[in-house]
Amino acid sequence: MLDTKVANLINEQVNKELYSAYLYLDFANYYEDEGLDGFAHWYEIQAQEERDHAFKMRRYLIDNGVSVKFDAIAKPDKVFKDHLAPLEAGLEHERYVTSLIHTIYAEAFDKKDFKTMQFLDWFVKEQVEEEKNAEDMIKKMKLFGYDSKGLYNLNQELASRTYSPSTTDKD
Ligand code: FEO
Repeated sequence: MLDTKVANLINEQVNKELYSAYLYLDFANYYEDEGLDGFAHWYEIQAQEERDHAFKMRRYLIDNGVSVKFDAIAKPDKVFKDHLAPLEAGLEHERYVTSLIHTIYAEAFDKKDFKTMQFLDWFVKEQVEEEKNAEDMIKKMKLFGYDSKGLYNLNQELASRTYSPSTTDKD
């Protein structure tokens, strides 16, 4: 059985991960409207990964005897002024998620909940990758995204991202 506060924080994080999926799918909607299907595809896959994060946490709670409760998922309300804006919003969001994961980790540490700390190790590592991906997207956009040929090539590159279900809820 998990400590109630630790369990509640993970339960809240399930909601936040589902929101992340919703947010990134909204980014994809924006890029579809802009005719940048490669960017849209990249964020569709990102949304799938976020859903996987939510499933993984839900499964951990269930396997530890916790009754999972769902809350409403917030509406993504971003309005983007240019093609760079979602990328910057994505980095900001990932930094926020990192802080949430660290908060849960700190609570588990406080409760000497080594099992949850071990479970969260995967997410701590994942957040390093998530932030790096977001930073790389911004760098590439700033380097290549401001002329039509560069933007075309970047869009092609992002279109090649593949979804790898390495983050299933049972991993
Ligand atoms: Fe689930 Fe992008 O962190």
